[in-house]
Amino acid sequence: MKVTAVSPANIAFIKYWGRKDHKLFLPLSTTNSMNLSNCLATTTAEFSKNHEKDEIVIIADNGEEKILKKDNGGKTALLFDFLDRARGFAATQLNVRIISKLNFPFQAGIASSAAGMSALAAAVFKSLDLKEKYEDKKELSREVRLMGSVSAARSVEDGFTECTFGETHEESFTQQIAPVDHWDLVDMVVVLKKDAKKITSDIGHKIAETSPFFEARIDYLKEKPEKARQAILDKDFDTLGNLSEVDTINMHAIMMTSTPPAFYFTPGSIDIIHKVYEWREKGIHVFFTFDAGPNPHLITTQSDLEKLKSEIEKLDYVDFTISNKPAEGTRFLDEHNF
Ligand code: DP6
Repeated sequence: MKVTAVSPANIAFIKYWGRKDHKLFLPLSTTNSMNLSNCLATTTAEFSKNHEKDEIVIIADNGEEKILKKDNGGKTALLFDFLDRARGFAATQLNVRIISKLNFPFQAGIASSAAGMSALAAAVFKSLDLKEKYEDKKELSREVRLMGSVSAARSVEDGFTECTFGETHEESFTQQIAPVDHWDLVDMVVVLKKDAKKITSDIGHKIAETSPFFEARIDYLKEKPEKARQAILDKDFDTLGNLSEVDTINMHAIMMTSTPPAFYFTPGSIDIIHKVYEWREKGIHVFFTFDAGPNPHLITTQSDLEKLKSEIEKLDYVDFTISNKPAEGTRFLDEHNF
């Protein structure tokens, strides 16, 4: 059966960086995020005796294509392992064709894997008729986590979500904090000219513990997910902003002090941080957060979006922006990619 699922990327407030367990991909602490309405992956999967081998193709919005191969290693190898696991659950040996379309460019540096992996898992499970794996979002999120991406696991639920810390596979899953219409936040992804992500997140999670500040991060993280969760529930912009900015700087401090060190910030990233402080002085509701890359995500409110856009237009090192509202999580569509 041909099945298509769509899923959003997301932006984390309290980041996932470093793991409790590298085999089960258990995050160090609970990590929470908002789904992004304009950063979507739409993925069609079909298992059939007509497919001579597994085929996975990702197509960006400008038509650029990536063909994934098992020997690419890293996350891609985990993805092929996932396909074998899913075939095992369904007791089938059929090959699969998967075509995933992104509505944003690869160069945006957005965690396309979060959107792509969650949509892919849902489409694969449904096309194998594994109801127990895709109807229960908790179980779907556990399986997505095992594909090597906690950030992707957060995308399966709607709106504002969290992937919980757990000591075991069972205990670490995604749940909703608040629905899509809870809060009219906007996440503007500001794509800077010349993006170069050199160290993958997977390597980053592994080397995080080499930072002399790793233990301090574990200690610092203790109450942060609960505080961020409460700030989301209370729609407390200033508190969420403060928690997020401190968290992203904390994460980048770990990155820069790991062995080998990972520097993701470019001069534009640092300049934007200073600009955010200035814009806040002018009364604009805005805070910044960065993933494992140089591009800031600026969180603002719908009412301040235009003011923020006109400030961004003045910056000559910005390539383009993508504005996102809170979005639904992984869901199925009737139209297919092939
Ligand atoms: C910095 O291993 O879940 O974005 O970066 O997409 O490969 P990818 O995913 P993952 O690491 C996420 C790292 C992060 C922080 C976060 O989203 O929590």
